[in-house]
Amino acid sequence: MTNSPFNLSGKVAVVSGAANGMGRAMSLALAEAGADLVLVDINEKGANLVADEVEAVGQRALVSKCDISDPKSIIEMFKDIDSSFGRIDFLGNVAGEAIREKPEKIRLEDIEYSWRSIVFGRFCCCQEAGRRMLKQGSGSIVNIGSLASVTALGRGHIGYSMAMGAVAQMTRELSTEWAHRGVRVNAILPAQVMNDGLQERINADPKIRDRFLSGIPSGRFGSPEDIRGLAVFLASDASSWITGTLIPMDGGNLAQNAGGSHGSEIFNE
Ligand SMILES: NC(=O)c1ccc[n+]([C@@H]2O[C@H](COP(=O)([O-])OP(=O)(O)OC[C@H]3O[C@@H](n4cnc5c(N)ncnc54)[C@H](O)[C@@H]3O)[C@@H](O)[C@H]2O)c1
Repeated sequence: MTNSPFNLSGKVAVVSGAANGMGRAMSLALAEAGADLVLVDINEKGANLVADEVEAVGQRALVSKCDISDPKSIIEMFKDIDSSFGRIDFLGNVAGEAIREKPEKIRLEDIEYSWRSIVFGRFCCCQEAGRRMLKQGSGSIVNIGSLASVTALGRGHIGYSMAMGAVAQMTRELSTEWAHRGVRVNAILPAQVMNDGLQERINADPKIRDRFLSGIPSGRFGSPEDIRGLAVFLASDASSWITGTLIPMDGGNLAQNAGGSHGSEIFNE
């Protein structure tokens, strides 16, 4: 691995949402490629378990309990990273959630919460990591967006979609501002990746499974592990001329029909 363009030895990676799902898979893939990890999550117990896995492959792990919707906690967390590691080479902005409700019913507070969790959380982490990377003259940031960054989903996703659309523009603006100073910013746009929430919805109504799968030409849901290769690629020198991109990770969904073959009526089922 030493001469490989995918080698991450000596690099420090910060990943939010690291206790579960895509954040966990991303963290472990980066550790296996040689990076030390800062594992950020509100679920400290889960993040500690991932830290054990990172250490088992021979890398350092620091767990940071931080609510990504709270900028003050994010700023404190980055100060801790300064004293523990002294540098940041990669940021994976994975955590963040939204409240689903029909546009005519949703409370403004819930729109604000979704915005704070997904947009402010990602931006605040980008700003804190970006300042440090700009000083170093190098760094790579990956924002997790969604199909909803570029298409409408319906089914009560108004708050989520508006926030994920902002994540796409955040990625483009930051990449444009920072590319000539050595800092790259890209986004990954996943389609439905199996997680606890999706599994619960399928358990409650198995019809949802087929409706979603009809929009995914590859014929299966994403698994968190699908992010491993993209994460290592985007964190490493292998992608050194790649910035400002929005990369679908979607089993072909966007190519097929720009986002949805399932109607908005499913929201009530
Ligand atoms: N799963 C999908 O189908 C899908 C598709 C597109 C985009 N996304 C987005 O990707 C991201 C991760 O999704 P996932 O499926 O891996 O989720 P997941 O539910 O498997 O894991 C999310 C992790 O984030 C942590 N977390 C939640 N809120 C947090 C907060 N405020 N501060 C810190 N940590 C927090 C949770 O504790 C958990 O460990 C989310 O932003 C989600 O909207 C998911």
